[in-house]
Amino acid sequence: MLLLLPLALAADPANGRAIFEANCTSCHGLAGDGKGPAAFALKVKPTDFTQPVWWGTRTDTDVSAAIRAGKPGTPMTGFAQLNEAQVGDLVAYLRALSRPVQ
Ligand code: HEC
Repeated sequence: MLLLLPLALAADPANGRAIFEANCTSCHGLAGDGKGPAAFALKVKPTDFTQPVWWGTRTDTDVSAAIRAGKPGTPMTGFAQLNEAQVGDLVAYLRALSRPVQ
């Protein structure tokens, strides 16, 4: 039981992936690299989540807040309808997309 408890509370990246694929890939791309089909038409390009350098500039709290509230002045609208657990799952999935610096 003591070992299972942290797992039950941990974020679920598989659920995050499902939410990402349903809501975010048109801009951010299936691979999360910012090259979705709608990205070419945008002046401000969607964030490339595969970049470890970008993750170094944001905490999970920053990323969660941006997902809930959007980013003013960019095409990134807020997803206030997602609850805290769903946003946590998204952040866990997106963070896992970043590959180590070559
Ligand atoms: C209409 C296109 C579009 C959709 C759909 C979209 N985004 Fe974005 N997203 C953007 C753009 C453009 C930016 C701004 C990049 C920048 O400012 O450099 C952005 C930025 C972000 C950022 C970074 C914010 C920051 O701190 O700079 C996060 C995190 C993010 N999006 C997550 C998501 C998630 C999760 C979804 C789906 C639930 C989503 N986005 C859906 C276009 C989109």
